[in-house]
Amino acid sequence: MKRSAVPLFVAVLLVLTVLAACAPAAAPAPAAAPAAPAAATAKTYKDMTLCYPQLGAESDWRTANTASFKETAAKLGVKLIFSDAQQKQENQISAIRACIQQGVNVIALPPVVETGWDAVLTEAKNAKIPVIVVDRSVTADPSLYASHIGSDMVIEGKRAAAELNKLLPNGGNVLELSGTTGSGAAVGRAKGFREALNPNIKIIDSQTGNFTRAEGKPVMEAFLKKYAGQVQGVFFHNDDMAIGAIEAIKAAGIKPGDLKMVSVDGTRGGFQAMIDGWLQADVECNPLLGPQVMDLGLKLMNGETIVKEALTDESVYYPDKAKELLPTRKY
Ligand code: AHR
Repeated sequence: MKRSAVPLFVAVLLVLTVLAACAPAAAPAPAAAPAAPAAATAKTYKDMTLCYPQLGAESDWRTANTASFKETAAKLGVKLIFSDAQQKQENQISAIRACIQQGVNVIALPPVVETGWDAVLTEAKNAKIPVIVVDRSVTADPSLYASHIGSDMVIEGKRAAAELNKLLPNGGNVLELSGTTGSGAAVGRAKGFREALNPNIKIIDSQTGNFTRAEGKPVMEAFLKKYAGQVQGVFFHNDDMAIGAIEAIKAAGIKPGDLKMVSVDGTRGGFQAMIDGWLQADVECNPLLGPQVMDLGLKLMNGETIVKEALTDESVYYPDKAKELLPTRKY
C-alpha cells in the first residue's frame, strides 16, 4: 500500500498540470472606458460681471432701485459695474461703451429716454453681450436686446385715471405733472391716463417736473397762480413731484382733500402723503428689480432662453390702509 501511493499522487499532479495548461488564458482587464465629453460647467453668479449704467438719482424710487441692484449683487457675489448718468443719455451710452470694452457678461440698461439706443445696442449685440432693458422701455428693434423687465407704464396711467374717475364722478378740470419728457415712464403714463379718463374730466394743463421734488414745487406754484379756483384734481407721474407740489399747495392755503390727487410709485413719502390726506390713491411702481434682472442675466450666461417681456405685477394703494402698511414698505 505504501509503495503504490506515490505514483498515484504523481499521476494526479500530472493530470492537474495538463488541465491547467489547456485552460483558456484569463481575459485581459478591460481597457478604461473613453472619458465622456466633460459637460460644460454651469456658470454661477460669481462668474457674472453685470454693467448697470443707472440713469440718475432723481427720486426715492430711483434710490430704491439702485439699492436693490447693489444689495443683490453683494449678496449673490455678482461683480457690479455701476455708474450714475445724471439724467443724460450720452452718459449712459458712454458707460455702456466702456462696459463693452471691459467685456462684461451682461448689461442691464434703465434708459432715461425711449429713443436713440439703436447704435449702442447694435454695438453690444456685435460684441455678443446681451442687454436687459430695465424699468422704462426703448423704441429700438426688440432683436437688439434680450429682454425688457419693468412696469407697464400705460396700465399705471390707466389706473390713475380710474381713480380720478371715481373721485370726480361729476367731472372737472385736472392738471398733470409729468415725468421726464421722452421717458418711457412719462410717455406710457400720459397715454394710459388719456385713454382711460372719463370724457367729463378735462386735462387743462400738463407740465414736466422731471420726476423731482425740486421741480414739482415750482411747477405747481405756477399752476396754482394760473388756474386759481378752476382745478378739481391732479395727476402726478411720481411721488417725489407730488411731495414737492404739496408744499406749494399748502402754501396756497389749500386744505387736504380740496383737490383730488393721485400719484404713482407707492414710496414711503407717498404713503405719508396719503396718511396726511393729500393723496387719495397711489399707483404702485416697483423698483426692486435687482434679483429678477440678475436671475435673467445668469440664465443668459448659461445659454437658456428667457422671456422677452417681464412686466411686474402691481396694484393701487389707498389712504385707509396706508398707516398699517407704511412700516412694511421697503422703499
Ligand atoms: O421709471 C420709473 C420712474 O422713474 C418712477 O416712477 C420715478 O419715480 C422714477 O424717477
